[in-house]
Amino acid sequence: MSMKNILCIGAGYVGGPTMAVIADRCPDIKVTVVDINERRIAAWNSDELPIYEPGLEEVVKRCRSRNLFYSTDIPKGIREADIIFVSVNTPTKTFGAGAGKAADLQYLEKTARSIVEHAENGKIVVEKSTLPVRTAQAMSRILHSNTKNLKFQILSNPEFLAEGTAIRDLENPDRVLIGGMETPEGEAAIEELVSVYARWVPRERIITTNLWSSELTKLVSNALLAQRVSSVNSISALCERTEANIDEVTGAAGKDSRIGPKFLKASIGFGGSCFKKDILNLVYLCGHYGLPEVADYWEQVIRMNEFQSRRFVGNMLAAMFNTVADKRIAIFGFAFKADTGDTRESPACSVCLQLLEEHARLNIHDPKALGNAKLDLEGATGEINYLEDPYEAAEGAHAIAVMTEWKSFRELDYRRIFDSMEKPAFLFDGRNILDHAALYEIGFNVYPIGKKALTHF
Ligand code: NAI
Repeated sequence: MSMKNILCIGAGYVGGPTMAVIADRCPDIKVTVVDINERRIAAWNSDELPIYEPGLEEVVKRCRSRNLFYSTDIPKGIREADIIFVSVNTPTKTFGAGAGKAADLQYLEKTARSIVEHAENGKIVVEKSTLPVRTAQAMSRILHSNTKNLKFQILSNPEFLAEGTAIRDLENPDRVLIGGMETPEGEAAIEELVSVYARWVPRERIITTNLWSSELTKLVSNALLAQRVSSVNSISALCERTEANIDEVTGAAGKDSRIGPKFLKASIGFGGSCFKKDILNLVYLCGHYGLPEVADYWEQVIRMNEFQSRRFVGNMLAAMFNTVADKRIAIFGFAFKADTGDTRESPACSVCLQLLEEHARLNIHDPKALGNAKLDLEGATGEINYLEDPYEAAEGAHAIAVMTEWKSFRELDYRRIFDSMEKPAFLFDGRNILDHAALYEIGFNVYPIGKKALTHF
């Protein structure tokens, strides 16, 4: 195999962990990760990595300076690379045509243009970012606008890692998907990338398809996952009205092997940088291709998610005598899920903003996400305190709202917490992770999701 240098443009939540695992599993390949963000690159080169992922630090420390490098010298990286992964952000567009739905592809296009500018030979360019179906066509046009007569092969290799389990997912993926052109050159490029993954991923889990199927599969996978969350959450609302219990319902329904037990947990809703953005992208594409009914169908998944966090705050208000003004509320968890410091699109943020509008005073505690929480709530009006210690966060509070399924929340001394709170003490479990009967016994008024509330009055 001729390939020796891999470059990844974009050192974020995907580029960082993905390249660390490739470097770890392929010691003979030099992997360089570049970014325009100097601070981020400096952090990747330091003891304090820019993102938290279980197991990431160990992998990075093992490979850094051996065959894994972080740099801001993008031109040099491009010149030396045989394969270039593009892993830049593709957020929802906030301006102009398609604002609020379409993907903002400016970072991707800028990356393609810098590849054209600095490349001195042909390369394989891999779309790692999540993109609208048919982006590879635009990518190809830009790359082939070069006047150096260079030939590029474009592959789509979407990333399916989940934050919080990124390293585990990368080391042992359910599948790796690689799409390419259905030409001899396209197939050779696919094989070259397959041979990288095949060093640690069983061959039958490496799926190859045409470019468009691969691009679309990533959007569809996220849409199906988010749809499952919204479907369960919609039923949780009905459970609360009928005394059915959501865990009993999904437990029994999930026993059907066609449904399956995973990803059926009721909660305050999904968050993270991808689900909402990717569904909006899908909705936009369906509209663009003249399929408004399909667009409406998927848009409802997002509406249900927003409804769930509004409903949660509505339940808090109703339970707390229709006012939370001046009441201190302990927010347990701000990350969009456990085991990450990422707070992008976290439902906790939406709940906090709604509570601040109601003039509540917030004590926010999260084991990993307080820094990001501060940035997210910068400019929000009202009293917000950020506390490393959950006991301090709960002291003097009227209520606790559990927003993230951190394991540490299950291990707290809730008797001690209860004793330090205002009475009546309320606990709203937005993740259904605590022992509700035990909390009720201690004296809490407990409000789970999709289950009967346990109250003392
Ligand atoms: P991120 O925002 O953490 O990282 C993207 C990085 O690209 C930033 O550090 C940014 O400075 C850099 N960048 C932007 N333009 C650049 C340019 N012209 N040259 C060099 N660097 C540039 O984003 P994240 O979360 O890593 O996502 C990247 C892509 O992967 C997105 O398309 C996302 O949808 C997709 N994805 C994300 C997953 C996640 O869990 N975060 C999972 C699977 C896919």
